[in-house]
Amino acid sequence: MKGIILAGGLGTRLHPLTKITNKHLLPVYDRPMIYYPIQTLINAGIRDILIVTGGNNAGDFLRLLGNGKDFGLKHLNYTYQEKEGGIAEAVGLAEHFAEGERVLIMLGDNIIEGNIKDAVEEFKSQRSGAKILLKEVDNPKEYGIAQIKNGRITKIEEKPKKPKSNYAVIGIYMYDNQVFDIVRTLKPSVRGELEITDVNNAYLKMGELFYSTLKGYWLDAGESINALLKANKIVAQKGANKKYF
Ligand code: DAU
Repeated sequence: MKGIILAGGLGTRLHPLTKITNKHLLPVYDRPMIYYPIQTLINAGIRDILIVTGGNNAGDFLRLLGNGKDFGLKHLNYTYQEKEGGIAEAVGLAEHFAEGERVLIMLGDNIIEGNIKDAVEEFKSQRSGAKILLKEVDNPKEYGIAQIKNGRITKIEEKPKKPKSNYAVIGIYMYDNQVFDIVRTLKPSVRGELEITDVNNAYLKMGELFYSTLKGYWLDAGESINALLKANKIVAQKGANKKYF
């Protein structure tokens, strides 16, 4: 299985911090934000990784990460997203890299406490389809929210005004190769983006969307200045990407 980390976008919610750098290069405790998702993939046994970046500072990723030596890798792949067309658009750019294999996509501003190896193994034993990870949150209006009935997801709503649950869809998604055909069918949302929630709802319609709940904390570090501050504090206190699960 191949790994894709999404680090495009302009990060305008974090201005002025992101005026002259990319959000995913900002520090979270003792390292740049992008280090955390890379480590998460490696801990899950995924070593063939593509970084999708964009904006004005794409060259800095290469200067920082090179071929992934800090992570024990011999090679890293990069691609460039021209505009901020949405998470699903960024996923579409990885089709050539996937070469027909299954993919795990992780948002470059998401940080988790634990290890997702078990969820990855479960997905590998799925015949086809998708698997997502859910986590209960206090602020469900900020995320993709899953409605669950009798242990099954019935619908996912992107940033609902009246959330029907507090189960957020976190930024780690596992897909088979159908994902690229699904992305081609999407239309931009009201915020002008191709939405990952529409991809997940397409799998749901086909009866092929499965989920696990995440153990340990989950942080969407790039959501706001306060989320970035909270991420710094929690990572400093508790560490991240621990192997104890
Ligand atoms: O963090 C989890 C949430 O991420 C989910 O619950 C939501 O369903 C999902 O839509 C997403 O919501 P956000 O509005 O927080 O996504 P954001 O625009 O912050 O983008 C998240 C990451 O995706 C960001 O770190 C960079 C990458 N990205 C985003 C866009 C819009 C790209 O690579 N390209 C893009 O065009």
